[in-house]
Formats: sequence, structure tokens, C-alpha cells
Amino acid sequence: MYSKSFATKTILMGDDLSSIDQFKELVSNVLKKDKKETLKTVTESNLCGRGGAGFPTGMKWNLCSQQKVEKKYVVCNADEGDSGAYSDRYLLEEQPLKVIFGMLVCAYIIGSDEGVLYIRGEYPKSIEIINGAINELKKANLLGKNILGTNFSCDMTICIGQGAYICGEESALIASIEGRRAEVDVRPPFPVVEGLYKKPTVVNNVETLAAIPCILKFGAKTFSSVGNAKSAGTKLVCLDSLFKKPGVYEIDMGTPMKKIINEIGEGFVQPVKALQVGGPLGGVIPIKEVEKLNLDFQEFTKAGFMLGHGSVVSIPESFSMVKYIHHLFKFSSDESCGKCFPGRLGSYRGKEMFDQALNKSNKIPIKLLNELLVTMKKGCLCALCGAIPVPISNILKYFTHEFKDDINQSA
Ligand SMILES: Cc1cc2nc3c(=O)[nH]c(=O)nc-3n(C[C@H](O)[C@H](O)[C@H](O)COP(=O)(O)O)c2cc1C
Repeated sequence: MYSKSFATKTILMGDDLSSIDQFKELVSNVLKKDKKETLKTVTESNLCGRGGAGFPTGMKWNLCSQQKVEKKYVVCNADEGDSGAYSDRYLLEEQPLKVIFGMLVCAYIIGSDEGVLYIRGEYPKSIEIINGAINELKKANLLGKNILGTNFSCDMTICIGQGAYICGEESALIASIEGRRAEVDVRPPFPVVEGLYKKPTVVNNVETLAAIPCILKFGAKTFSSVGNAKSAGTKLVCLDSLFKKPGVYEIDMGTPMKKIINEIGEGFVQPVKALQVGGPLGGVIPIKEVEKLNLDFQEFTKAGFMLGHGSVVSIPESFSMVKYIHHLFKFSSDESCGKCFPGRLGSYRGKEMFDQALNKSNKIPIKLLNELLVTMKKGCLCALCGAIPVPISNILKYFTHEFKDDINQSA
């Protein structure tokens, strides 16, 4: 797998935590310090969750630490189901100690003695490497009972996902670990209050956790000085095989997308008309529009798109956007957990409209389609079916010319 850092500081890809001795030194520093001081550092780094929603990590840990309950959990979300995303896989396989260290620090701060890594079953090598790292750390008394002779104990286990996209959504993920059907839950209560086995739980993405060692080792400022207050630090970005230099790159937040596409990815191997950034729920952005943006969560959202987890899928000039929307509806109808009917039925009805357009048996009833998109956006329980209208609306807005023969304007 091609991977490289184009960041001013190699927070995620540096080899500053690659041995058990380095891990031991970092853990003993944390255990000597006041928990509040460590939490303050994480908060002041302005680290925001890398799993898609971008919730401030320090705030999440603080909320969980305030719960007056004896049993708490830390869950690492390594279900990485977004199309074109393989940055979590890179971290699990190349930087496993950073991920586990992030979980251990979180456990220490919130008062938990148990962590679970939920790793997708399609990543057997990641599972093997993380399992090996856990065993080595246990042998070195850096996991398990009374870590380094203190009264802090913490064990970690792996739960293997079975290939459902919805299992990456935190409430469905929790249900899946518990052995229940992976359905989304109504929130509140949020997992920090009532999560795994109804106990306070922090669920964090792999990349979020992997940023913790650098933040603690080099200070909050090292991280927050890159990018800006709301989009701080570096981000792993995955470029797909239509780039001349595909791969996973560590890039400073705030870097112009134009640079990422043309200099880092070295442009495309064939003509590309749009990029879908941030997985199947992320925006579909015409090349001209994406070149106006910087790598920044807020900028993407303001422009009507979503940076999400940072995967980039290129849509070739020759690929029909009618087919692309059909694929998006098919994806959400296949992967919907089925709990809410705007998601379960809405995505299926959308797929039907595009089935009929593709087999030329009916034109797309545009008024009905727009009403369907609003209903799904407003009525769905989670972002799987609730955010799929984002890329679909982007396509309808920017690629109208591709639909002129397939649309029924009066229905
Ligand atoms: C349908 C769906 C799939 C998701 N898949 C993932 C995933 O694979 N990995 C992940 O970390 N977060 C995923 N999320 C976001 C999680 O629900 C959650 O916000 C995240 O794990 C929190 O971690 P963070 O604060 O570190 O970002 C998904 C959300 C939705 C709605």
C-alpha cells in the first residue's frame, strides 16, 4: 500500500511510537500526571473526531469522565466501511501502538478498565497485528492488571465485524458488540452516558485515537498550530486508483485541495469529472468546485459537501450520473438497518425510480424525488439514509445536463 506524509509534522505516520519501550515511557509519564492535566492537553489540542461527525474529543472524554458509575468502556471504531477509505487499516497495521495507546489514555482519564476494538472482518491482517500488540503489551505489564505497578488496570479485546456498513454507526456498533441485531438507537442518551451494556462509553475512531500520543508527547500546541481551531492537526487522506499516485497521505488541515489533487496525487490517469469525498454519504463535488476548497471540515460543510473520514473516490468523465445515483440508492437500501421507515422504504423507492430510468420504463418523477430526499434528510434515524440525499442533491445540482432525457418535470 502506498503511503506518505506531506504534513509539516508527522503526527500519524511518524515512527515516534514503534517499540514497547517507547510505549512504556509514554504510559509511565501519563500515569505520573494528574488526569485533569492530560484531559486539558487533549481538549486544548482542538482534536475533533475523525470518524465523520467531528465531535471534539476532549469534550467527549470529559463528559464520560463525569459519569459517576464504576464500570465504563472505551471502544475503538475500526469498522472503516467508507468506499475508498483505508487509512484506519494503515494505522492498525503500521501504527498499532498509537491506536492502543490512545485507548489506554482515554480509559485512564474516564475511569475505565476495559477497551474493545471493533475491527472489520475484511481486515484479517489488522486483527492479527492488533492481537499481537495486545499480547506483547500484556506481557510487559502495559495492559492488564495493575499497569506498571499502579492501581490502574485495563484490558483490551477485539470484536470482529461481519461486513455491514451500519455497524460503523456507534449505536449499531454497540448493539453488534453486545450480540444484538445491529440497529441504530434513538439518541439521547448518548454513549458517553449510556453505551456498551448500558454503561458510559467513549466511542472513538482509529485515527482520532492514533493522534493522542503525539499530542501528549509534543504538547497541544504542536497539534493545534496546524490548520485552524475547528479543523486542527493533520488528516489522513486516501486517494483512489484513478490518481496517478494513489495512496494514503498525511496532510496538514487547511491544505488546498488543488494541491492535494494535482501535486500530491499528481492528477488523474483518465478524465475525471467529480470526486466523492467522505464515503457514500459525503458530497459529490465537481472538479472545478473541489479545487476552490481547502482540506477543512467546516469549509466542506459550508459549501454543501462533507469531508467525513477523508476518502476520495474519483468519478470518471465517462461514468453516467444516473447510474451513480442509482448506485447510491441501492447502497443505502442494501445497507439500511431497517429500523426507521424513511430509511428502509425511502432508499428502496429511490432505487426503484432509478431502476426504471435505467431500463427506460419510466422517467424520473423529479418533484417526487425531491420530496423523497427532504423526507429522508429530515426523518431518518441516522446519517446512513439521512445523509445520502447530500451526494444525490449535489449531482442533481451540478450535473443537470446528464438527466435531461430521463426526467419527468410534471411528476
Ligand atoms: C452509517 C454510519 C457509518 C459510520 N461508520 C463509521 C466507521 O466506519 N468508523 C468510524 O470511526 N465512525 C463511523 N461512523 C461515525 C460513528 O457513528 C461515530 O461518530 C464515530 O465513531 C465517533 O468517533 P470520533 O469522535 O473519533 O469520530 C459512522 C456513522 C454512520 C452514520
